[in-house]
Amino acid sequence: MAIMSDERYESGKYAGYVNNINAGGHPGYMVKTFGCQMNESDSEKLAGWLEAMGYRPAVTEEDCSFIIFNTCCVRESAEQRLFGHLGEMKKYKTANKDLVLAVCGCMMQQEGVAEKIRRSYPYADIIFGANSMHKLPRLLHEVLTQRRRAVDLEDDPAQGIAEGMPAVRSSGISAYVPIMHGCDNFCTYCIVPYVRGREKSRDPKDILDEMRGLAGEGIKEITLLGQNVNSYDGGISFAGLLRKAGGIDGIERVRFMTSHPKDIGRDILEAIHDTDAVCNHLHLPLQSGSDRILGLMNRNYSRDSYFAILDMAREIMPGIGLSTDIIVGFPGETEEDFQDTMDALERVRFDFAFTFIYSRRKGTPAAEMPGEVPDGIKHDRFDRMLGVQNRITLERNKASIGTVETVLVEGTSRTDPSMMTGRTGSNKIVNFRTGGTKAGGFAEILITDARTWHLEGELYRWK
Ligand code: SAH
Ligand code: SF4
Ligand code: F3S
Repeated sequence: MAIMSDERYESGKYAGYVNNINAGGHPGYMVKTFGCQMNESDSEKLAGWLEAMGYRPAVTEEDCSFIIFNTCCVRESAEQRLFGHLGEMKKYKTANKDLVLAVCGCMMQQEGVAEKIRRSYPYADIIFGANSMHKLPRLLHEVLTQRRRAVDLEDDPAQGIAEGMPAVRSSGISAYVPIMHGCDNFCTYCIVPYVRGREKSRDPKDILDEMRGLAGEGIKEITLLGQNVNSYDGGISFAGLLRKAGGIDGIERVRFMTSHPKDIGRDILEAIHDTDAVCNHLHLPLQSGSDRILGLMNRNYSRDSYFAILDMAREIMPGIGLSTDIIVGFPGETEEDFQDTMDALERVRFDFAFTFIYSRRKGTPAAEMPGEVPDGIKHDRFDRMLGVQNRITLERNKASIGTVETVLVEGTSRTDPSMMTGRTGSNKIVNFRTGGTKAGGFAEILITDARTWHLEGELYRWK
């Protein structure tokens, strides 16, 4: 499946290329990321290419010779925002004629968008899609040597997965490792399968080698990424992959997202339970608590089969952290359907829920469905749902007051620099006061207080 080392060769071919043309200087770059974890992971690879070519991270746009926007189109509002950002770039392009401006990612694969950018933003030098990331060095080389725009919107379903790209990781403690690309589920509201293409699994050897390399760099926690990790098929199953990933020396925590309720089975839950390094946390998007809406969404499960999975998960791992995604205002959603979702939240009592207002995506089946829910009703339902879930999240957080939780320390808290911050295995944020600093280490924290978004505690002992 892997695209062969042609692309590895290319990184060598262009290595240091920009310092040569910049008479030994290191020009600055910025990668602006707009999407999900997969999009963030792609940005780390874009940065990897750029640094291999001689660029260095810049703090301000004025110091940049290269700026890239890595786009997302899962919600409609993103387009207007991107066009706003591109408009703003004009002043930097005018001030610095050597600045190269690139736009890439999922939105470029969406019908009409790349065309609009071509027409309306003549100063966008490079345009490429989510499946052409490995070509950045070649495209950049083309722009720098031929002084003309480079476009690559490759969308060949037979194309394999590019392996061996360099990456600049945004954290020294946790890292993302994609295990598969694309999605075959075609949930009727979702644009991802159209822009990311068909599901493809990476070879387990490539995944495990990447994890070993990261362990060697001091990474402690890895999140395995895919749009639907339980349909992973790289010759071994996802449960098999979890067990192998959990056995890598130095990787003390393995997380994964996202699982799909239609095909998560006991084998995966048992692999989570049996493998010490695999965190007891399951993010399982429910999307709606109404069977009628789940049918219209093409989700291929019922609320009862969903509950049955979570009951099984809690039976195998009583302390498991559970989170979900919910959409309100799907076409045709009635107050009764919405109450089914509210009821599901009360029944499951998730630790956390990401809640979204339905956004119409042109080209998806739901965009053509009747019964558009008026904005006012969507927002009202959204607010009511948030009220319920925030109360549940706070109640669940409060239940951990007085317990001792093991956290992986990530560093000082962004909101309060006198505190350190870390996460529990169940994925709750814990802020705690301590004199010492030990990012990357494990600590046992006595939980003393709970808020909706985090827990607070005191250092019990370093582990
Ligand atoms: N593959 C993952 C993530 C998909 S995108 C999954 O299946 O869960 C992340 C979340 O965005 C989805 O779970 C869904 O809740 C939300 N989402 C996707 N398309 C949307 C749309 N058109 N409107 C509102 N929310 C959407
Ligand atoms: Fe979108 Fe559904 Fe695929 Fe998730 S599983 S990316 S929601 S189509
Ligand atoms: Fe992710 Fe957005 Fe693409 S959610 S897969 S970056 S459309």
